[in-house]
Amino acid sequence: MPQGQTDRLEPTGEPVAETDPASGVITVRPPGNLCLIRSGQEWTETEGDERALYLGDVEPVLRAGMDFLRDDGLAVGCYANRYVRVTDETGAETDKSFGLSGWHSPADLEAWAESHPTHVAIFRAAMKYLSTLGPAANLRLYHEVTVIDAGRQEFRYLGCHDRTGLLRAV
Ligand code: HEM
Repeated sequence: MPQGQTDRLEPTGEPVAETDPASGVITVRPPGNLCLIRSGQEWTETEGDERALYLGDVEPVLRAGMDFLRDDGLAVGCYANRYVRVTDETGAETDKSFGLSGWHSPADLEAWAESHPTHVAIFRAAMKYLSTLGPAANLRLYHEVTVIDAGRQEFRYLGCHDRTGLLRAV
């Protein structure tokens, strides 16, 4: 991220929540430099052994990491995480998924990716996969990362349990 070369993109505070007494809507305003990541996987073009390797060796490790961030991520700066399977217009599952998470700071996300056992395990599974398949690999992976100014984001909740999304952070 070019701005990261001259700006540490540090969080400017902590999230705050405000409830509108009339509607019951809870608005959560995170600090500036909230970091969002969408980390996507697509195995549409994989077949045979490659498909078995992704679904058998990589996906379960990814799922364990996604479950950790969903259930216990707050301790490492992850406010909320969802592991999502993409469906088509009839509701049938496609061969695409993504993890979507919101982080206290880009530094917390990087620290998790660099050293937490759950992402280290994902990284190792990926290295084994890629060294087995080499350039023939048909798995597609991507990251989309966004770091957002304080005034340009808010999250609203109505009738949700108190660990839904960013509510867990307040
Ligand atoms: C099948 C799923 C995944 C695989 C195979 C994978 C694999 C990898 C690998 C190999 C790297 C090192 C890249 C490099 O050295 O340039 C990496 C970095 C990283 N991963 Fe993952 N990962 C997966 C899922 C995720 C998820 C779900 C997240 C976040 C929720 C994530 C966050 C990151 C971040 C932040 C980095 C560091 C990027 C950087 O600083 O350049 N990864 N991952």
